[in-house]
Amino acid sequence: MEPSRLPKPNSKIAFAFDIDGVLVHGGTPLPGAKATLEFLQRKKIPFIFLTNGGGATEKDHVAIHGKRLAMSNLSEHQFVQSHSPFKDLVPFLKDKNILVLGGVGNRLREVAKSYGFNHVLTSSDICKADPKAYLFTEYTLEHHLEHGSDNIRWGPNGEIQVSAIMTWSSPRDWGLDLQIIMDLLLSEKGRLNTVSPFNGDVKLPNLGYLQDEQPAIYFSNPDLTFATAHPQPRAAQGSFRAALEGLFAARTGGAQLLNLTTVGKPTEETYTYGEKTLMEWSKTIDGGDGKIGTVYMVGDNPASDIQGANNFTSKHGTVWKSILVETGIHVAGTKPAYEPNTIVKGVKEAVGWALSDSK
Ligand code: G3P
Ligand code: MG
Repeated sequence: MEPSRLPKPNSKIAFAFDIDGVLVHGGTPLPGAKATLEFLQRKKIPFIFLTNGGGATEKDHVAIHGKRLAMSNLSEHQFVQSHSPFKDLVPFLKDKNILVLGGVGNRLREVAKSYGFNHVLTSSDICKADPKAYLFTEYTLEHHLEHGSDNIRWGPNGEIQVSAIMTWSSPRDWGLDLQIIMDLLLSEKGRLNTVSPFNGDVKLPNLGYLQDEQPAIYFSNPDLTFATAHPQPRAAQGSFRAALEGLFAARTGGAQLLNLTTVGKPTEETYTYGEKTLMEWSKTIDGGDGKIGTVYMVGDNPASDIQGANNFTSKHGTVWKSILVETGIHVAGTKPAYEPNTIVKGVKEAVGWALSDSK
């Protein structure tokens, strides 16, 4: 009788690095970041960047971080931003009007168009066409008049039908953006400048708020705060989402919860997207089948990086392990809300721990 043979475990390792608080802090490289990435490149150990940052194309963002880290050999194919999973929505929304929120000026319009969304609207467009849409623009009107487009396909009665509201990075003009989102959520079929006759009408079966084909809402980063050059964590996109949820509940008497879709760490969508990207990148650098035994997620934010890696179940048999560093959101000596496989000082120590763990 032959002894039964266990399949050989896949010993290949790879890394997913968070950026803010792991590799850079407030735009400045953290100690050991460049040397650690260059070490992995020399060893041909695959790695990607898995960040909740966004607001630029993957290509532009990798150039920005390449410059910060003084590395010219990073690839856009290693870069997963908060909104990278929005690419999967292109087949459904490419011919519809989408409202994009976040970032400055026209940059997000260009990013959304580069993904394949053909009809992109910004809140500056709406403000420019109708400066009365939001009353308190004393500080911001000049910006919106400069960046708003005149090429929007308005209907005969000044209406435009919006199929999706998509937040790509942190909104800058919260007041205007909250006003416009609320207008759309209370509109008839997502047509700006209309009001749904069903809003809050509980006497009508199956009708009420959000029952009149209002646009779907997508967020790309649930982080409430993130590590910046300021000594205390600063508000991130998740804070804006919380403001919207509070406003909607207050306006509707809490009659209905907002049905939001959120991608970005710690969501499964983003880790699935990250793993797909890592497997593709692995094939690119060694010509193999892309299969990976263990991925080490290195992050500074327990709720984002660590929770996401701990909860993720790979469909490819890859094990994800989490490493928390002390160079960002997490305060050394405190107990993190989500427990990582280990806590180390910085990115260099994280890779050192992973290498001995995988032996
Ligand atoms: O949440 C804001 C974002 O910039 C955080 O980036 O790299 O720490 O996921 P990162
Ligand atoms: Mg971070």
